[in-house]
Amino acid sequence: MNIITVALASDHAGFALKEELKSEILEMGLKCLDLGTDNLDSVDYPDFGRAVADALVEGRAERGVLVCGTGIGISIAANRVAGVRAAVCHDATTARLAREHNDANVLALGARIVGGEVAKDCLHAFLSSPFDGGERHLRRVVKLG
Ligand code: RB5
Repeated sequence: MNIITVALASDHAGFALKEELKSEILEMGLKCLDLGTDNLDSVDYPDFGRAVADALVEGRAERGVLVCGTGIGISIAANRVAGVRAAVCHDATTARLAREHNDANVLALGARIVGGEVAKDCLHAFLSSPFDGGERHLRRVVKLG
């Protein structure tokens, strides 16, 4: 799938990293659909995980990126939407394998867990790695529903 637009969102804990990643996405020549949050005021991560998930299933973006404190809560929220496969990644290897093996369409990051440079490595690996497409991987992804 050709990536044109990346949907991006965070809660307050992920706001600063989200802004860094937005610049990175734009520098990569991609469009960025920023779904908030817009400042450091406390918000609820499920609202933002859901916003990116909805953007994906409605075809407004081909990939999503989510950031909260750990990446966990916001990925759980996104994964409750059918067709969304959000993967919490901690380095370029987990980001690459989330694409190659799991055909993940949302990258989730923990701003309190990974630094900015590692997060950018994750972003580049996630956006540049294709799904492996092998029979066993496809069978397993189909079973995810
Ligand atoms: C917010 O304090 C924090 O709970 C949230 O960002 C996230 O880490 C939840 O999974």
